[in-house]
Amino acid sequence: MPTHQFDAIIVGAGGAGLMAALYASKGGANVAVVSKLYPTRSHTGAAQGGIGAALGNLEEDKPIWHAYDTVKGGDYLADQNAAMVLAENAIDAVIELEHMGLPFDRTPDGRISQRRFGGHTSNFGEKAVPRACHAADRTGHMILQTLYQQCIKQQVRFFDEFHVVDLIMNDGKTAGVIAVELSTGQLHVFHAKAVMFATGGWGRVWSVTSNAHSLTGDGAAIALRRGIPMQDMEFFQFHPTGIYKMGILITEGVRGEGGVLLNRHGERFMEKYAPNIKDLASRDVVSRAIYLEVREGNGINGKPYVYLDIRPETVNRYFAEAGDSRRIDREYVEKKLPDILDFCRTYLGVDPVKEPMPVQPTAHYAMGGIPTNVNAEVVIDADWTVAPGLYAAGEVACVSVHGANRLGTNSLVDLIVFGRRGGMAIADYVKQADFVPLPDNPTAEIEAELERLRNSKGKTKPYEIRQQMQELMMANVGVFRTEELLQGAVDGLKELRERYRTDLIVEDGGMQFNTDLLEAWELGCMLDLAEVTALSALNRKESRGAHSREDYKQRDDENWMVHTLAYREGSDDDPSYRLDTSKKVDLSLAEEDERFKPKERVY
Ligand code: FUM
Repeated sequence: MPTHQFDAIIVGAGGAGLMAALYASKGGANVAVVSKLYPTRSHTGAAQGGIGAALGNLEEDKPIWHAYDTVKGGDYLADQNAAMVLAENAIDAVIELEHMGLPFDRTPDGRISQRRFGGHTSNFGEKAVPRACHAADRTGHMILQTLYQQCIKQQVRFFDEFHVVDLIMNDGKTAGVIAVELSTGQLHVFHAKAVMFATGGWGRVWSVTSNAHSLTGDGAAIALRRGIPMQDMEFFQFHPTGIYKMGILITEGVRGEGGVLLNRHGERFMEKYAPNIKDLASRDVVSRAIYLEVREGNGINGKPYVYLDIRPETVNRYFAEAGDSRRIDREYVEKKLPDILDFCRTYLGVDPVKEPMPVQPTAHYAMGGIPTNVNAEVVIDADWTVAPGLYAAGEVACVSVHGANRLGTNSLVDLIVFGRRGGMAIADYVKQADFVPLPDNPTAEIEAELERLRNSKGKTKPYEIRQQMQELMMANVGVFRTEELLQGAVDGLKELRERYRTDLIVEDGGMQFNTDLLEAWELGCMLDLAEVTALSALNRKESRGAHSREDYKQRDDENWMVHTLAYREGSDDDPSYRLDTSKKVDLSLAEEDERFKPKERVY
């Protein structure tokens, strides 16, 4: 069995993983990044509209306002100390990216350009503020390329197209990971003092999603199977504007540049739901508004979608009505939003400078995940006990900085800020830690599981179970939820798990590039995470942020101002879950500043 030894293994080569690798390596650690994709294909590359930082380049802005918006947008479930770390570190992070060579758009006087985004305001909610630093609508793509170049320069070692399938723990301590080399099918052991999961989210659990095919929650599922709890899994964000039926993201930057949402009557319906901030309300509010419009028969052509309009004549009319001095023209739209124009022209035959875009909410982002502190150290219980040598950053982690609903642009900030903090923490840790010995035959369990899958000769193909799971999650664990829907999801997922276990067929029995086998394995990860999500949502009897219960319409701070931790118990064949709701939310800013105290919100 090929065995490699590094001080630290970073699993995943998106923004968080690359930033962590860079900083751990600069701190003196011998680091390798192990990724199932070629690094620049990581999903950070799909982030479009911007990275939020209170630079104040166009209008006055302050980190404390950014932190306030993050806490309020997260419906007060965000840990307020973490929100402050995010907002304060964001400024440095963006300047650092600029110095690394990231080609941000510029203001006429040469500073980093900023645009408006949902929920970002000045002076504690007074008015929308331009905070999203952007490179056209390719901000994530540029971050990924920039960080990859930096890692190469720093001589970080990369294992590309190595699919991590297990975490090695010995006596509760981190000892490494196991990966399948895609080109040969061979298992490799990576023995390490520290492991970071930076594997991204699991939007592929739903049928309409902005997430790439690779977003199957591998890191989260592996951790869960190895006894690490999942925090706040009930909170999964639907981005309001995915391309109808396809789910491909249409950046919130469109609305930041003045675009508006219209129903079949041509009504700018967000005026009803968020009279102050309208189309730039936070994502949970806008997604619910779209569902309500469709439910009231106001979808376009009787279908479950609405229009997003960035045509200059529409936008300029609304600017003029609002007394806003901004004006846009075709050239401006082409320059600021080239990718989304391209997507619509290519996939829909719709030209957004001439016609409105058909959009619907799309499963976008996991607020929950592997619990960590602000240094990306994984914590395993409500007492914040750290798992030695284990780290997580980016979407797979739950710091918790996004609470019940993430603000747009804060994902890219999260990657850079907590990836960097994690990298620094790893560099310090590996200096004083020893290698934990590998257990005897560390690959035995995963080898047995992969062989069982490889030899599955039932009747159901993985895609059939995947499709049923995705449709069930879309219908029952989507924007609006009820006890009945959620219980239906839990029951349906149990049945799917049973079929996965007893009736699966994997047709490719080979070793090289066996995507059939690994997709079947990924499906197991998604089933695990879908089940935890549905159970956690069933358990939380209130509405908060992205978790909107029609049978418990109010937010209930008295009973539910807590994080949930889901532990997997039972056997692999028949897992059960224990939900612990004793992990408290950190309200440190609220204690100092009245304005951070939870305020009422309409669901
Ligand atoms: O709308 C967007 O550009 C997405 C950004 C985000 O999820 O932060």
